[in-house]
Amino acid sequence: MQNFEYCCSTEIVFGRDTENKAGAKVKQYGGTKVALVYGGNSAKSSGLLDRIKDSLSAENIEVLELGGVKPNPRLSFVVEGVKKAQEFGVDFLLAVGGGSVIDTAKAIAVGIANPEADVWEDFWSKKTKAPKSLPVGAVLTISAAGSETSDSAVLTKEETHQKIGCSTERPVFAIMNPVLTYTLPRYQIACGITDIMMHTMDRYFAHEEGNHFTDRVAEELLKNVIKYGKAAMVSRKDYEAMSELMWCGSVSHTGFTGLGRQRDFSCHKFGHELSGIFDVAHGASLAAMWSSWARFVYQDNPARFAQFAEKVWGVEGGTVEEKARAGIRMTEEFFKSIGMPICISQLVGRVATAEEIEKMADLATANGSKKVAVFHPLSKQDMMKVYEMANY
Ligand code: NZQ
Ligand code: ZN
Repeated sequence: MQNFEYCCSTEIVFGRDTENKAGAKVKQYGGTKVALVYGGNSAKSSGLLDRIKDSLSAENIEVLELGGVKPNPRLSFVVEGVKKAQEFGVDFLLAVGGGSVIDTAKAIAVGIANPEADVWEDFWSKKTKAPKSLPVGAVLTISAAGSETSDSAVLTKEETHQKIGCSTERPVFAIMNPVLTYTLPRYQIACGITDIMMHTMDRYFAHEEGNHFTDRVAEELLKNVIKYGKAAMVSRKDYEAMSELMWCGSVSHTGFTGLGRQRDFSCHKFGHELSGIFDVAHGASLAAMWSSWARFVYQDNPARFAQFAEKVWGVEGGTVEEKARAGIRMTEEFFKSIGMPICISQLVGRVATAEEIEKMADLATANGSKKVAVFHPLSKQDMMKVYEMANY
């Protein structure tokens, strides 16, 4: 086991009706003037936003609404949000939504706390954590990205199609009521299932040996997400299934399922570039790339892939090579079964051009000047090969 430091400081408030505690929690963490950040329409039309506003007004907290965050959140919204929030004197950010909304709130919190800095140039493009941030709280409405407890936020700069994740503070609290996810479209539930799995899988494929507890945690989390993911795809009003997905979604991206080994995140790299260029849903971008990446790299450590097949998919018998390949096939079949794409044409509606593939590889590797990931460090040429494998 490698040395590690771990601190997940987010207070979790889990269960039915917990959104009614939003005002009290904001007050507890010192908020008096709140920017209420939300997305397109889902939080409004479900009545959630009104309940949150009631809860804030019950604590005499002033509210600035910053609605309209789009999936794959844009830098321009953040820049505009910082200006409005500064004028209002915001001292706390409350995000009501999923990864896109929470990431936007995290970035606005950075922008307000560092008024001399350029959020993109000084932090996101350099992947440098800002020295200060305002506190952020989250009311989660989709189990997926794990941003409600994670220490990062992902932004897209529209003009250049760059989609970049940067270290941030974790939210101070996360309110997690599984009932709030009952209104999700099936496609978004499936994207969430994929992303939750991938936050553990992108940490699981590593060469370090002897990390038994972390391995078992990761394998059980994956089995649980597969089991309850299937149930959620049948009925999105299944409280048990939605609870399991919600809690696994948070744990999967706190870092807990990868402690003691290096973090790889290859598949996220492929996915972020696809979302940057084609504006596709994050979870779907990962499903479209994972099996191509796995087939490209599994021979670096077939035993690791065989262990994944045995422990997660129950594969028995056969050689190490056969087991490794079976595990990849079964993961791919699972993604298909929940309606996820397993190649680029299923993701974006057509195959990518040679120019688009090269652009994505250039963006990921800083024009070929660096390799990405650690399980199998990927050069620009490697990235292009994997994109080509998935380009059907
Ligand atoms: O905008 P609204 O109307 O709210 O609709 C959203 C959006 O269209 C909808 N939705 C959310 N909750 C709903 C709902 N619809 C009905 N009922 C509800 N209860 O779902 C759509 C997707 O929302 P989004 O926030 O984009 O989803 P997700 O949570 O998957 O977040 C994806 C973003 O997070 C980033 C991704 O790259 C992507 O930009 N990630 C952030 C991470 C982090 N900060 O730690 C890690 C992840 O790996 C990921 O990269
Ligand atoms: Zn993700």
